[in-house]
Amino acid sequence: MEIIPKPLFPSMVWTTLFDDRETLNPKLLALAQQMRQQDQQGVDKSNLKGWQSDNILQTLPAFDEINLRILQVCQRIAESLHFKPGLAFYHQAWVNISPPGASNRIHYHPNCHFSGVYYISLKAPECGSIYFRDPRVASRMMTYPIEKITEFTAEEVMMPPEEGRMYVFPGWMDHGVEENKSDQDRVGISFNVLATPQR
Ligand SMILES: [Fe+2]
Repeated sequence: MEIIPKPLFPSMVWTTLFDDRETLNPKLLALAQQMRQQDQQGVDKSNLKGWQSDNILQTLPAFDEINLRILQVCQRIAESLHFKPGLAFYHQAWVNISPPGASNRIHYHPNCHFSGVYYISLKAPECGSIYFRDPRVASRMMTYPIEKITEFTAEEVMMPPEEGRMYVFPGWMDHGVEENKSDQDRVGISFNVLATPQR
């Protein structure tokens, strides 16, 4: 007897490692630190003990390289999902600097098709992982009597961060970041992307 499993509603996380990360990341790190110096207060959102910039990277020419990359990656993903041709892609992006002890509360991003993060500088795995919570409501009503977690039974999935890698996921997916237990800052750029008909 053959039993065939078929995933019906997969919740995707797409990742891509940039080939030029060794030249790109020092530039982005310097820009991120410069931004924090100019606005030491930052904004208060899902970040606990960390510094977050305003959602303004998309308006700053100094960040053009990463802004373009965010849009390119999300356009490629959208193509693979058969989004209509000719859509315009808009994004908002911000810097996150999480010193030792900092974390991000679990949250989601409404009103966007994709969300994501690009990691510039960190010490893995001590810096903590980004984690995603199972969006299937039914699975929260009953736990499975398991001895080993599988992708089907997991309530949360951790993804260890990697310098130079971009992670993209649907905006509705609940996610957070564990406490940074390393001895250095975890620095990344987070973003939301929306695809709309051209006006
Ligand atoms: Fe987020």
